[in-house]
Amino acid sequence: MKLSLIALTLSGSIAATAGSVSSVPTYYKDIAPLMQNRCQECHRSGEVAPMSFMSYDQVRPWAKAIKNAVLTKKMPPWFADPHFGKFSNDRSLSQHEIDTLIAWIDGGAKEGDKKDAPQPRQFAEGWQIGQPDLVLQMPIAVDIPATGVVDYTYVVIPTGFTEDKWVQFAEARPDARSAMHHVIAFLRPPGNHWLKDAKPGVPFIPEHWGGARDQAKQDKPAGQASKASLEDQLPGELLVGFAPGLPPTECKPGEAKLVKAGSDIILQLHYTPNGKATTDRSRIGLIFAKEPPQRRVMTMNAINVFLRIPPGNGNYEAHAQATIPQDVTLVNMMPHMHLRGKDFLYTAVYPTGEKQVLLNVPHFDFNWQLAYVEDQELLLPKGTRIECVAHYDNSPNNPANPDATKEVRWGDQTWEEMMIGWFDVSFDAKTDPTQLRQHQRDRSE
Ligand code: HEC
Repeated sequence: MKLSLIALTLSGSIAATAGSVSSVPTYYKDIAPLMQNRCQECHRSGEVAPMSFMSYDQVRPWAKAIKNAVLTKKMPPWFADPHFGKFSNDRSLSQHEIDTLIAWIDGGAKEGDKKDAPQPRQFAEGWQIGQPDLVLQMPIAVDIPATGVVDYTYVVIPTGFTEDKWVQFAEARPDARSAMHHVIAFLRPPGNHWLKDAKPGVPFIPEHWGGARDQAKQDKPAGQASKASLEDQLPGELLVGFAPGLPPTECKPGEAKLVKAGSDIILQLHYTPNGKATTDRSRIGLIFAKEPPQRRVMTMNAINVFLRIPPGNGNYEAHAQATIPQDVTLVNMMPHMHLRGKDFLYTAVYPTGEKQVLLNVPHFDFNWQLAYVEDQELLLPKGTRIECVAHYDNSPNNPANPDATKEVRWGDQTWEEMMIGWFDVSFDAKTDPTQLRQHQRDRSE
């Protein structure tokens, strides 16, 4: 009796699952739209993925690999635990999309009728943000060798702005994409002395960065630098970054980032030689707000520069926090770690003591530096604390670990570590953000 009931329930649920994808899907009718919406952002020529998924002939040979990649959630790259937060740039596939793909592949990956094909999706050539109002390019190319390690290289590009400018969209585009790990464009307002020895336009490697690398090479502990000197090495406001999977800066209508008159843009360039010598002159494209915005967007962070990860430790825990000194709205979050990074959690602790998990990345992947853009207006009232907790795997069980026998500390190269919980906030553009900027420099221990 019992058995047959179970059998009934089981067959019922199988029928229900099969029923959710009506007939056997075909490429033109069911799969092409899915490829356009979910995959072609990267799977087309000139973008990060190694193969294009723009036509049946291009997709068909990959059918088995696609099945595997979507079932294991390897593709599309998206690492947020769905239980926390809601993000407007969520790339993860719905169950229906997964079922459709699997049914198509299991049904023989049929081409179907060309008449069912959707219009090809249009992509802006070159700039993802559209045609920039202004392009600032490195005046002198950097030579990237075929092999070896290149220290973080900096280039100061004066904006020449004679008035304050509001930037709504910003994008960084390197030439040497395949030998580029990341670009970050920082803002240096007049009066700030960060990298003051660098000549405008001339690629510059600050001595202390090189020093840190030499220490790492000689296998000496990196020497506990004082809080003050580390702070000098860490710049303030961020305009835009380029890294695999990272979207350009795209502020909502009525929101923008402020670039003060006389500011310099300072590019931080991390080149990763890939076997072929090449050169790079990265560019920054800017689109200005058509009118002064009501809200200003600024990048803050919770950061811990005092990491000390023992050799072999498979679950080293680190904390960082930042307190919000005025009412702001959370725009996005971007956790940053290197090869030993395992997981990263953002929690808001409100002035009432109430806690809310904002983002949980249970399986961090260094190859993807993703930003998670808030879907709703999330107010962080004055006094809210952003608490970040990260874990690192410095054991031999971590296949990405370059060396499990070393103690690992903060450093810019991938075999060193970082813990930065970046987050963008927006606030009333008429308020003075001095306090926000100061809190940004509040380093955790
Ligand atoms: C944000 C960019 C991005 C998006 C979106 C994306 N991919 Fe990928 N995909 C990549 C990159 C880069 C690689 C190669 C590196 C890797 O395998 O991680 C890749 C590799 C793959 C592979 C090969 C995996 C393997 O094991 O070798 C498959 C299959 C794949 N993607 C399918 C898809 C499908 C299907 C979608 C859409 C549903 C998709 N991808 C969306 C960037 C992307």
